[in-house]
Amino acid sequence: YFLGIDLGTSSVKIILVDENGDIVASMSKEYDIYFPFPNWAEQNPKEWWDATKEGIRELIEKYRIDSNDIKSIGLSGQMHGLVMLDKNFNVLYPAILWCDQRTQKECDYINTFINKKDLSLNTGNKALTGFTAPKILWIRNNRKDIYDKIAYILLPKDYIRFKLTGELAIDVADASGTLLFDVKNRRWSNFILKKLNIPIELLPKVYESYECTGYVSKEAALETGLKEGTMVVGGAGDQAAAAIGTGVVKNGEVTVSLGTSGVVFASLNDFYLEEENRLHSFCHANGKWHVMGVMLSAALCLKWWVENVNNNNYDELLEGAERVEAGSDNLLFLPYLMGERTPYSDPNAKGAFIGLNMIHNKYHMTRSILEGVAFGLKDSLKLIEDMGININTVRLNGGGAKSRLWRRIIADVFNKKIEIINSTEGPALGAAILAAVGYGYYKDVNEACESLIKVVDEIYPNEENAKKYERLYGIYSNLYNILKTTF
Ligand code: XUL
Repeated sequence: YFLGIDLGTSSVKIILVDENGDIVASMSKEYDIYFPFPNWAEQNPKEWWDATKEGIRELIEKYRIDSNDIKSIGLSGQMHGLVMLDKNFNVLYPAILWCDQRTQKECDYINTFINKKDLSLNTGNKALTGFTAPKILWIRNNRKDIYDKIAYILLPKDYIRFKLTGELAIDVADASGTLLFDVKNRRWSNFILKKLNIPIELLPKVYESYECTGYVSKEAALETGLKEGTMVVGGAGDQAAAAIGTGVVKNGEVTVSLGTSGVVFASLNDFYLEEENRLHSFCHANGKWHVMGVMLSAALCLKWWVENVNNNNYDELLEGAERVEAGSDNLLFLPYLMGERTPYSDPNAKGAFIGLNMIHNKYHMTRSILEGVAFGLKDSLKLIEDMGININTVRLNGGGAKSRLWRRIIADVFNKKIEIINSTEGPALGAAILAAVGYGYYKDVNEACESLIKVVDEIYPNEENAKKYERLYGIYSNLYNILKTTF
């Protein structure tokens, strides 16, 4: 067996995969997210580790797994978050998460202090509030007492690696989201580190996603029930891991993630830059590259609507929304509940229903939320196509991908065929596949994906709906600019 651990934003998912790629055991444990001030989002790394070690232990016990049979472990997790340790490896401050928006000032500083072309060529990106480097500068500017004590910087899943193995390491895919990484050459960027005055000694050693980074320690074996000496491979940030878990590894293949965030991810054979850096250019987990557009609230919009505004009645609302015609009788929803990254990079963007009328009921509103998220994803899809990338395959992953209605809406809004594969556990499955490659079970990542990921269904766009959505998307895509001054 191969173990895949995905340290998500709301929970950790742990799965055990056999040599056919079938998930034979799974476990998930939730933890809290803290919003101490508007626009802030933090978690406690200790709570991540408690949830992970308990989850592994329970999975082994519940499914009566012999830990000798677990050959290797892969890690995936929420990207960009900043974990700071002192010289004794103690956590210094809560982890500042990918969706935390406190760093606009630091981003403005980086984007003006470093020439745009230099920044883009050296990192593949521009500074965005979610990325790690501006978070480090925020700590230096606002909590110098903490900054002075930092001995090691890690990303969220790499804290789990540290607790499992005692090693300080990261993979190229997750390192790409720090803005300190030379994505083209797959190594830390000395140029940027020097410009921002961040010592390279703070940063972990970099590996490819399928390389071995260490082995389960005696202490971690006692805490988790894993066998001491089990291999832990690099793994990847959740988006690259999800691409592996959906078999999106060839040039022009796309996976769409409907998690808390929403992502359109295109696998590429080479390093590409979008001219305005509206898409992130990152390393892929198969030794190549990718671009992606990220919306900050995707399934989160549905969660907000069903849990905060309604009474947790998912089934009723989604069934009702299915009976509403495509286009929700011209009701539009802007999904910027936590600001937006692609294409606007605006932490102050806000959500809105536009075009409300007496005929609308809660089912129209539910459907327009699903459609609004799909339009937001289409913004990223168009940016990718505008770069001249020919998109030949679209697959889905994440909790939202389980909804039949949402799949149909994405096929119609994109006006593209959607391939449904044998699992929606994208990131955790991708992590387990990387573990299998690291163990030597497959020649490389692409070969592993080819033999493990199977297309089980295809959804073709409905021509009439696609036409309706084309018209509504035209209106939607102007709304941000019209409303911007009111946000
Ligand atoms: C990707 C991003 C999010 C997180 C979610 O750039 O910020 O998708 O990875 O876990």
